[in-house]
Amino acid sequence: MTAGQADALQRLWPKWGLDIDGRRAIELTELFGNANPVVLEIGFGMGEATAQMAAADPGTNILAVDVHTPGQGNLLSLADHHGLSNIRVGNGDAIILLREMLAPDSLDGLRVYFPDPWPKKRHHKRRLIQPEFLSLAASRLKPGATVHCATDWEPYAEQMLEVLTAHPDFVNTQRDGGFAPRPGFRPLTRFEGQGLDKGHVVNDLLFRRVSDEGPQ
Ligand SMILES: C[S@@+](CC[C@H](N)C(=O)[O-])C[C@H]1O[C@@H](n2cnc3c(N)ncnc32)[C@H](O)[C@@H]1O
Repeated sequence: MTAGQADALQRLWPKWGLDIDGRRAIELTELFGNANPVVLEIGFGMGEATAQMAAADPGTNILAVDVHTPGQGNLLSLADHHGLSNIRVGNGDAIILLREMLAPDSLDGLRVYFPDPWPKKRHHKRRLIQPEFLSLAASRLKPGATVHCATDWEPYAEQMLEVLTAHPDFVNTQRDGGFAPRPGFRPLTRFEGQGLDKGHVVNDLLFRRVSDEGPQ
């Protein structure tokens, strides 16, 4: 961790940090100090893309979660430097956050950009985007909320497309049922840049949470 990241953590964690301890429910309007829509980003890494998206859309709150401490310091420092008051940084496991701390129908969106690909077959069960995870996420998303995933690992992209398409709580925003063109609002992420350097192909997926009455 750099001195700047450590300093940001020390100064800003009390103001913008969230300990994911699974012991209490979070009131999102209290956490952000307003009732703006809230998007959960899981695995922000060093947070550069998160900060850019927060700056481009100040009317949307971003709850950014990761377990990586230097990245948390980096994102807090970026938020401070650019005067971004619409970011809160969570430390811990996003599954615990979703399951124990967030209320049903509380999120307006979910972003999962370049989750760990776990390329080895025996590690596939560690991948985040699985049916049980999607059921948990769906329960915390409002009807109509968007799920946006991106990956540079093509077999994982195929798995994402398969499990999202099969899940009854989500519908593909793409008429052809395939991957989405990269949306202009998603900045290049650090991990994505590394994948592109290796010649990887990047796929975006944009699905919507259906209402309890069925697809909209
Ligand atoms: C491959 S990195 C991608 C980071 C960033 N999105 C990017 O594109 O540069 C995946 C990140 O997800 C985080 N992560 C993995 N599982 C997580 C979980 N259950 N909860 C929160 N963060 C998680 C890791 O710590 C890591 O920083």
